[in-house]
Amino acid sequence: METLKTMTCRKSVRSYKNTLSDADLQKILLSAQAAPIGMGKYDTMHMTVIRNAELLQELDRNGADFFGDPSTKPLYGAPCLVVISTPIENPAMGNVQYSNAAMMAEHMCLMATDLGIGSCNIWGAIAALNAKPELVAKLGLPEGHVPCCAVTLGDTDDTFPEREIPADRIAVSYID
Ligand SMILES: Cc1cc2nc3c(=O)[nH]c(=O)nc-3n(C[C@H](O)[C@H](O)[C@H](O)COP(=O)(O)O)c2cc1C
Repeated sequence: METLKTMTCRKSVRSYKNTLSDADLQKILLSAQAAPIGMGKYDTMHMTVIRNAELLQELDRNGADFFGDPSTKPLYGAPCLVVISTPIENPAMGNVQYSNAAMMAEHMCLMATDLGIGSCNIWGAIAALNAKPELVAKLGLPEGHVPCCAVTLGDTDDTFPEREIPADRIAVSYID
């Protein structure tokens, strides 16, 4: 796919099958490795690939409870969740690390779209996760790491038609 086409086809997928091939997962993880990272500090970032159904369910339930509606599924039954974490040592520079995480997440969503795999940026369930240190501990993150965001991944029956993107959806001002 050409770049702009991939971008206009990308969408948040919230309905998944229970499958994701290793080959597709590895391509998607490689796309995150290609993301730009502030000052090239790649060793500050970490990805945790969760495919354990029990842990996925626990994260899902925790998110649903956190947002006050146990009937919801904030991970949408996706068979894979990639959590991106980093140590926020200097809160004044924390925005760089959150930005790094977002770059990695969006690379994965675009790669997934290119492969016809469903993906969705997940911040809500990660906020819920961060409120539960005992659940964070189950991720076995490197020392001092904080989960920033995540991406759900999985095969889907959803399709990826090109979408018309309004050029004024986000305000733009010009200073000539
Ligand atoms: C920073 C960020 C956080 C998001 N968090 C969530 C989330 O927790 N759950 C969810 O279902 N979608 C989440 N989304 C997806 C947005 O709701 C979605 O991108 C937006 O509604 C536009 O739809 P589209 O992705 O299909 O273009 C998030 C997106 C971004 C960029």
